Amino acid sequence: MKLSTLLIGFTAALNISSIKAFTIGTSQQLHHHQSTSSRQNAHSKPISNEPPPKNIVIIGAGWAGLSAAHSLFKSDHNLQITIVDAAPRVGGLVRDGFPTVNGTSQGEAGQHGFWDNYHNIFNLLEELFDGNLDKVLSGYAEQGQYSPRGLEAVWPVYRNQKKLPTGLGQAVYTKFVNLSPLDRASALPMALAFSDFDDSEKAWEKYDNVSFRDLCIKLGISKKCYDEIFEPMILTGLFAPGAECSAAAALGMAYFFVLKSQNSFDVRWCKGNIGKLIFDPWVELLEKNGVEFQLSTKVKGFECSDYDDGRITKVVCSASSETAKARDDCIIEADSVIFAVGGAALNTMVRGSPELSKYSEFRKFSNLRGTGVLATRLYLNTVLDTPYSANACWGFDEGIGMTMFDITKLHEVSNSTGSVIEIDYYHAASLLVMSDEQIVQKAKRDLDTILSQSRNAHVIDAAVVRLPQAVNWYSPGSYANMPKVQSASIPNVYFCGDIVRSRHGSWSQEKAYVTGIEAANKILNRKDGFGIVPLNADEPHVALGRGVLAAAKSLAVLGGAKREPSIVDFLW
Ligand SMILES: Cc1cc2nc3c(=O)[nH]c(=O)nc-3n(C[C@H](O)[C@H](O)[C@H](O)COP(=O)(O)OP(=O)(O)OC[C@H]3O[C@@H](n4cnc5c(N)ncnc54)[C@H](O)[C@@H]3O)c2cc1C
Ligand SMILES: *[C@@H]1O[C@H](CO)[C@@H](O)[C@H](O)[C@H]1NC(C)=O
Ligand SMILES: *[C@@H]1O[C@H](CO)[C@@H](O)[C@H](O)[C@H]1NC(C)=O
Ligand SMILES: *[C@@H]1O[C@H](CO)[C@@H](O)[C@H](O)[C@H]1NC(C)=O
Repeated sequence: MKLSTLLIGFTAALNISSIKAFTIGTSQQLHHHQSTSSRQNAHSKPISNEPPPKNIVIIGAGWAGLSAAHSLFKSDHNLQITIVDAAPRVGGLVRDGFPTVNGTSQGEAGQHGFWDNYHNIFNLLEELFDGNLDKVLSGYAEQGQYSPRGLEAVWPVYRNQKKLPTGLGQAVYTKFVNLSPLDRASALPMALAFSDFDDSEKAWEKYDNVSFRDLCIKLGISKKCYDEIFEPMILTGLFAPGAECSAAAALGMAYFFVLKSQNSFDVRWCKGNIGKLIFDPWVELLEKNGVEFQLSTKVKGFECSDYDDGRITKVVCSASSETAKARDDCIIEADSVIFAVGGAALNTMVRGSPELSKYSEFRKFSNLRGTGVLATRLYLNTVLDTPYSANACWGFDEGIGMTMFDITKLHEVSNSTGSVIEIDYYHAASLLVMSDEQIVQKAKRDLDTILSQSRNAHVIDAAVVRLPQAVNWYSPGSYANMPKVQSASIPNVYFCGDIVRSRHGSWSQEKAYVTGIEAANKILNRKDGFGIVPLNADEPHVALGRGVLAAAKSLAVLGGAKREPSIVDFLW
């Protein structure tokens, strides 16, 4: 055979396989679309003459629960929506109203930032504040990173830098003080994992079995790079050490906060306590539109219909404090129930409710866990000149994440005679057991290590907020136990919050908010994605990276592989 014929044959073969690979891709997509639309049809034409739901009970008044209520009332003014929360204030993990030790002020449950891709929360804020986000959110500012030996890195405002492909931009513009280019370069193979992890159900199953630390080791990331970049990032972003955190959860988060665009990691902070500045006006709007709040009220059980499909008909509550509206047990009629609570709360509810625990779907929730957070706010008698208003810290306590904020600057307290500094600790169960006094001393010591200028300052008041097992813990293998937006076993039960399985990997206020809309969409039979601002399209190099790997996988399947390979297969 002549060489040219061979070459022609070879290229033709290549073309054919790439065409095949392409058709397989599209036919799968088509199939996916068909099945979702037929499911929607099935939903929009009720089999029986079932009336649409009227009484909606939402358990949990955090971002997720309020979002669901908001989305529901906007579409249907005749719904009777009741939000029940065990706490005396709305907000969930973003609650405020925690009195300080000396009673001069009120703290909140840690600092919560709003990153560039929080399109849906920004939408809400535009609605609440007539388009004037600057009224409640700070501008962008450089952020610092500290270890006990001093400043380690500075994160610039990425949107003020010349635009580069995402990933590269962050690598070039982040200023590391002590990390050698070689150590930084060892992070490069992470790009492979980013490309392989396409956020699909399959990718989740594969990477969720692996801890983030194991993934980094297998990818050959240097110990220094892991210890000083990745571990602190996971501890503050996902509230758990890399060894105890799912690689899928970490990659999902990185996609949202790094891979979307160079600006993805730019963050704005609330100019006051979020509870006062954002939740109070939001609750007022909801109440004006008929949404009823039952605070200081704990959901403790359910009544289900015992003939047809076992749906929940009543939610049983009891007062969780003196201030509860309903002093005794109260029973709320429900046509639909939305669980807008975290994993640990789902776990507790299933253990206390035979109505739920008879389903394996619900029993799995008893594997869900939360991790502890400690939020401290120190009121000092002198004014500090902090170089950066928001800082991440590492190396202070083994396995504990830490952040430090200058509240005086973020809240734009003018003419103050002292500084207010917030220090928060993540994965901090071992600190929660200390007394308030010990905690205040520790936080002050850590502050003095970071900023020597604070050594002469005295603490005149302090907030100590303990949140045991409060934050969802995305441990390896936890994905299989997480709820989907709609229950498969009880037809009128829905879930929202950052514990819900969805293709949104940010584990944040934004995710909680988006899943609230998703639950409302299911209840009202609207199409998926209704009312949700999607993420921007991938940048070309990200799409290319994912595309190339996807094509390679399809080729391998054509070549006789039983299932698509993944880099996970090559690593283990
Ligand atoms: C210190 C800290 C810092 C964080 N930083 C950020 C950040 O910078 N940016 C960001 O986007 N996200 C951040 N997060 C995460 C963010 O706060 C959460 O993703 C989000 O608030 C989750 O909201 P949710 O509505 O899903 O659940 P939650 O806020 O947990 O709300 C659940 C509610 O359910 C209630 N509940 C539970 N059980 C019952 C019951 N039986 N009966 C009645 N009510 C019940 C609880 O009281 C609670 O109010 C941070 C979290 C913490 C703790
Ligand atoms: C992940 O782990 C579970 C439980 O150990 C197992 O059933 C499953 O097959 C694993 N999945 C993959 C893709 O390895
Ligand atoms: C700041 O405080 C001083 C002293 O209490 C006071 O005289 C001054 O008017 C204050 N300035 C502003 C802008 O409030
Ligand atoms: C409360 O105030 C007293 C008296 O000013 C002070 O000694 C104490 O340190 C303060 N407590 C805290 C936690 O700041």
